[in-house]
Amino acid sequence: MQTITKILTEIVEGAFAACGYESRLGAVSTSDRLDLCQFQCNGAFDGAKLYHKAPFMIAEEVAAKLQENSILEKAEAVRPGFINLTLKDSYLLSYAAQIAADQNAGIPQAEQEETIILDYGGPNVAKPLHIGHLRSAIIGESLKRLARATGRKALGDIHLGDWGLQIGLVIAELEERNPDWKCFADDFCPETDSVPALDTDTLSEVYPFASKKSKEDEAFKKKAQAATYDLQSGRPGYMALWKEIMRVSVDDLKRNYEKLNVYFDLWYGESDAEQYVNTLVELLQDKGLLYESDGAQVVDVAEESDKAPMPPVIIKKSDHSSIYATTDLATLIQRQKDFAPDQIWYIVDKRQSLHFSQVFRCARKAGIVPEQTALEFLGFGTMNGSDGKPYKTRDGGVMRLADLIETVTTAAYDKMSGSGFVSEEDQQEIAEKVGIAAIKFGDLINHRSKDYIFDIDKFLSFEGKTGPYILYTITRIHSILNKAGVNPDAEITMSGVYSDLERELLLTIALTGEVFQHAVEEKAPNYLCENVYQLASVFSKFYHDHHILTESDPEKKNTWLALSMLTRKLLLKHLEVLGIEAVDHM
Ligand code: ARG
Repeated sequence: MQTITKILTEIVEGAFAACGYESRLGAVSTSDRLDLCQFQCNGAFDGAKLYHKAPFMIAEEVAAKLQENSILEKAEAVRPGFINLTLKDSYLLSYAAQIAADQNAGIPQAEQEETIILDYGGPNVAKPLHIGHLRSAIIGESLKRLARATGRKALGDIHLGDWGLQIGLVIAELEERNPDWKCFADDFCPETDSVPALDTDTLSEVYPFASKKSKEDEAFKKKAQAATYDLQSGRPGYMALWKEIMRVSVDDLKRNYEKLNVYFDLWYGESDAEQYVNTLVELLQDKGLLYESDGAQVVDVAEESDKAPMPPVIIKKSDHSSIYATTDLATLIQRQKDFAPDQIWYIVDKRQSLHFSQVFRCARKAGIVPEQTALEFLGFGTMNGSDGKPYKTRDGGVMRLADLIETVTTAAYDKMSGSGFVSEEDQQEIAEKVGIAAIKFGDLINHRSKDYIFDIDKFLSFEGKTGPYILYTITRIHSILNKAGVNPDAEITMSGVYSDLERELLLTIALTGEVFQHAVEEKAPNYLCENVYQLASVFSKFYHDHHILTESDPEKKNTWLALSMLTRKLLLKHLEVLGIEAVDHM
């Protein structure tokens, strides 16, 4: 479906042209004064400069032309030169009916085929999943769903940090503790020898221990670095141990992400890029880009216009090991070969922006991706505690994601106890969904680049711009439809507009497509959060003012039920794209 502003723009462009003006002056936008009009065009001001005429004169001529149009109730020239537009109720109703029948719920679809890879999540294997990775998962999942909802092909790749020093640290520590394990022997044979089974608790204890030790003990640090290098060179015993570490970590990650309603299409990691590292080095050599600096192999990426220092990107360290940039560049070779994407979006902490500038520049210089392939770094801000500093546990440690989910679920449970739950199990399940909706909505309502404060009471509130409020509104619609005995997904018929609030609700529904379009253009799900709140709160006003269930005029009653069904459908669509699950009762 086309958005209403697009439809109106075509009409107003036609009117400008019919009056002898450039048609491009006819761009229409939604009005910010709904009390005056629904839409407006400000093209007469630019026209005034072009044609040396008063803007109001141009606006009057164009508005006069628009009188003939069948979808407009009103087209008015307003001093000093605005053109204010209001749609006929009959048109609003028919547009809303089209949304109801549209399989994409009125969301405009991309005109060209496009494949986007989204690199998000990015957890580090062997380290516990902490809330630093929460935002990447929440925002990335929503952007992936948004790209799909607007007709694009989108693939989510978790890009596991599974090949770096953290693994070397774990291996070195396990070796110190268990020198007799076969995987540490030089004659380890992958066909006949096995590795002892590990578990999450062991891994979550070993990593921080080893990390701390490496800061105090130089010899241990060297050992961990050597283990990293040996692993990257394919030492069989280390590879076997690494696979076991991966098995345990990936299991744990999948469980946590599933709770968050986050699903990846590709479970590739930095290790999968290893096989392209040689290709990368050869390519950079062939292009004459690689040179030695302090024993390391580097590529210059500075540009004349740089205002801040742009250090060369390191491809191989002096000990020949690969680093973060190496794997990101090698991964680009892999992605280009396997998917030839039109765009790659990286949803990563904004403090990594320099790294990505270096990687993107190097990739362009080396021609790793075609010029038209967009590489987008979508940096996000930090989730802070009430002290304005990165969110910590009570004792000052890094909060683990599983603990955060637990804390919020318990708070949701306590808040909702006393409501009419079917069973204890039912209450648990709903508390978890409400808790996760609270976390996700509380995050996504902020523009991704901004820091925000994690405020459990605010996020769990049943009023205002929160996940629970949206879930609650949906359950309320459910109960109305239930009481009226209508199937929420039945076909709808709306026969008229009977009140101003009903008109406001219809207009909010009709503008949803524009919001999705804007959100995908800006790669910013926060616009969906604002709109879903808007829709829920207009519906709440409408519901308070109209006694839907007891209305005696059957046409009115049916229209209002139909509007409730359509509102529900759109609220659910927003939630689906935000990656938030709804509940039928709470
Ligand atoms: N594992 C990284 C980290 O924890 C994030 C990975 C982001 N993606 C990428 N392609 N570098 O910081």
